Amino acid sequence: MFRACALLCLVVFQVRAIEIDVENVESIKKAASIAAYDMVSYYKGNESGQTPGKLPEPPYYWWESGAMWGALIDYWHYTGDTTYNDITIQGLQFQVGIDKDFNPQNESAEMGNDDQAFWAMAALSAAETNFPNSPNPKDPSWLSLAQAVFNEQTSRWDTTTCGGGLRWQVYQINGYDLKNSISNGCLFNIASRLARYTNDDHYSQWAVKVWEWMERIGLIDQEYNVYDNSEATKLNCTQIDHNQWSYNAATMLMGASTMFNYTNGDPVWRTRTQGLIDAIALAYFPNGIMKDICEQYDKCNTDEHSFKAYLSRWMGQSTQMAPFIYDKSIALLKSSANAAAAQCTGGSSGTKCGLKWFLDGTWDGSDGVGQQMAALEVFQSTLVRYIGAPLTNSTGGTSISNPTAGHNSSAVPPAQRITPPTKGEKAGAWALTAFIAIMAAWACWFMCITAWESDLTGAATAGVFGERRAVVMGGNGKGRAGETGIPLNRWMGGAISVHEEEWGSTRYRRRDHFA
Ligand SMILES: *[C@@H]1O[C@H](CO)[C@@H](O)[C@H](O)[C@H]1NC(C)=O
Ligand SMILES: *[C@@H]1O[C@H](CO)[C@@H](O)[C@H](O)[C@H]1NC(C)=O
Ligand SMILES: *[C@@H]1O[C@H](CO)[C@@H](O)[C@H](O)[C@H]1NC(C)=O
Ligand SMILES: *[C@@H]1O[C@H](CO)[C@@H](O)[C@H](O)[C@H]1NC(C)=O
Ligand SMILES: *[C@@H]1O[C@H](CO)[C@@H](O)[C@H](O)[C@H]1NC(C)=O
Ligand SMILES: *[C@@H]1O[C@H](CO)[C@@H](O)[C@H](O)[C@H]1NC(C)=O
Repeated sequence: MFRACALLCLVVFQVRAIEIDVENVESIKKAASIAAYDMVSYYKGNESGQTPGKLPEPPYYWWESGAMWGALIDYWHYTGDTTYNDITIQGLQFQVGIDKDFNPQNESAEMGNDDQAFWAMAALSAAETNFPNSPNPKDPSWLSLAQAVFNEQTSRWDTTTCGGGLRWQVYQINGYDLKNSISNGCLFNIASRLARYTNDDHYSQWAVKVWEWMERIGLIDQEYNVYDNSEATKLNCTQIDHNQWSYNAATMLMGASTMFNYTNGDPVWRTRTQGLIDAIALAYFPNGIMKDICEQYDKCNTDEHSFKAYLSRWMGQSTQMAPFIYDKSIALLKSSANAAAAQCTGGSSGTKCGLKWFLDGTWDGSDGVGQQMAALEVFQSTLVRYIGAPLTNSTGGTSISNPTAGHNSSAVPPAQRITPPTKGEKAGAWALTAFIAIMAAWACWFMCITAWESDLTGAATAGVFGERRAVVMGGNGKGRAGETGIPLNRWMGGAISVHEEEWGSTRYRRRDHFA
């Protein structure tokens, strides 16, 4: 009876899916609300005893929470649904940290420039849409949070290698030796949007500088492909990791289109914007359905599950900045939204989305914040012609400017400077713990063997002893390798051969040793 019932439920649930008519505003809003609801169901930060602003970690690294708040600000702007505004305001403000710069102490040991940027871009979207301010007047304005991150990141611009560029990591830990497209691309994105919002050319000069550096190093090629990263410390950016990920191209598209708009139609930015959308259409839309390379091989990690959210987000919003790419972008977004909705049949709700939109309406069996965010953003992006363009300081944007926001280490007397724990120290502590564990295991094993050997002393001949010993070594040796050797190797591997993994975006590689 129970089994029959369960089977029936399964059948009933399986015929559910998200229905969407991409020509109908109400239908799109309904689809977005379902995807948003399922996305927020993973968030527990507003329950008592939990940390506001953060998704459960593991599996979700801190940056993705910032990305999710950005998606929810967009959701409100696209649909007018205020359901998640309170948790969004609370979550963003709780994570600003003492310097009001999205580098809170709990996270600073592992802070990447890209991580910080995803939170800043959420705040910037809030400024551009007049998203409600925090009810607490002491909280920093949305605009000032983005300015703080811009100020800090430009102060980290590193000319000691590669003739410039932002490193991936803020502190000297695994990944510090890389200069990657997502970190530089998000600084470019933020700079262009701050230029347009404030009409302050200082920001646009930085946008130009980042683009030109990325092009010079080869992170952007002549066909406007955007590649993942380049090693700075040993190779001085003479080699490029040619993996292509949708979010890298997407953040460049948003920035380039914004510069086109800010410059009132500069043909240089027009060419770049057109080049990027053409390259994106070729690289990420086989048969018109958005796809990242890892999907084909079942290799997407938790971070990568969310990348299509950002391609959807910025393909949609860039059409407001550069209307000449609207037709091309919107056609690809609509076909992808149809494909995405058709496979949202998973989970107990019968509406959870997987990532493989190309599977012709079959859920791929995966679910999570990234998959939900990707579906949400691709649905709502098809509404882009119905919403207002991002505001600016002179078109009704009310967020308060603070051009010197953020931690300015040169303005703080040396005696009062706080050094956040570096990821190096954290990794060092981890290595020490591992070392102690291995030494303890080894000592224990050695003692047992010695005790066992001394039991045998006298009785055993050299031959018998040798044979036993070989058996013990063979059997236990393997077991030990499994227990303690592998984590150590993984950690060493993560630290040393950062750019040798075949399948990684930089995130995949960096995070591998924490996984
Ligand atoms: C947390 O936020 C969600 C979404 O707004 C809401 O449904 C839920 O009731 C909230 N939980 C608490 C404990 O406030
Ligand atoms: C930092 O972590 C502590 C301990 O988990 C928590 O109580 C606190 O709320 C966290 N702060 C932030 C800003 O996340
Ligand atoms: C590193 O690259 C930059 C620009 O790409 C170049 O100006 C500089 O001379 C190079 N440094 C070394 C040590 O080769
Ligand atoms: C800049 O964006 C606005 C708002 O979407 C749009 O009306 C305007 O045409 C854009 N400027 C250019 C040069 O395309
Ligand atoms: C733009 O921002 C500046 C600095 O916050 C402010 O002084 C000015 O009044 C704003 N201009 C407009 C048109 O809102
Ligand atoms: C940081 O502080 C120094 C010294 O007070 C000042 O010259 C500089 O302009 C400040 N930088 C920013 C971005 O506010």
